[in-house]
Amino acid sequence: MRLKIYFVLLMPLLIYACEQPDPEQRRIALHLPPVGFKGDAEQGSTDFKQYCASCHGQDGLGTQQGPPLIHQTYSPSHHADLAFHMAVKDGVRSHHWAFGDMQPVPDVSPEATQHIIAYVRREQRKAGIQ
Ligand code: HEC
Repeated sequence: MRLKIYFVLLMPLLIYACEQPDPEQRRIALHLPPVGFKGDAEQGSTDFKQYCASCHGQDGLGTQQGPPLIHQTYSPSHHADLAFHMAVKDGVRSHHWAFGDMQPVPDVSPEATQHIIAYVRREQRKAGIQ
C-alpha cells in the first residue's frame, strides 16, 4: 500500500524529469554553439564579409538589399545575441525596414554565427553603440 503511494507521488516527477530536453540538444535546436564557446571578432569579420555583407554591407553599414547592423536598432539591449542566431537559422520576416524578408543562411554554423556576433558587437562598440 505504502509503495503504491510513493509511486503515485513520484510518477509526475519522473515524467517531468524525462520531458526536460537535454540542455545540449536545446542549444542545438536554438542554433547556439556549445556552452563557453567564445566568438572571435577577426574570424567573424571574414565570415561576415562572405555571408552577410552582400545585404548588410562590407562594414555592416547596410546596402540597398539590407539594413545596417552597426546601428542602434541592433544594439545588444535591442537585439540580443539570440536574435542573430535566430536570423541565421530561420531568416527574418521584414518588420523594421522595407527591404523585404531575410532568408535563412544555412551554410553559417552556430560557431560561425558567434564569430560574426563578436565582430558586429566590436564594430558597434567602436561606433559608440552600447
Ligand atoms: C539577402 C540579404 C541578406 C543576407 C545575405 C543577410 N541578411 Fe540579415 N537581414 C536582411 C534584411 C532585409 C533584414 C531586415 C528585416 C527587417 O525588415 O526587419 C535582415 C535582418 C537581420 C537581423 C535582424 C533580426 C531581427 O530580429 O530583427 C539580423 C540579426 C541579421 N539580419 C543578421 C544577418 C547575418 C548574421 C547574416 C549573415 C550570416 C545576414 N543577416 C545575411 C537581409 C539579409
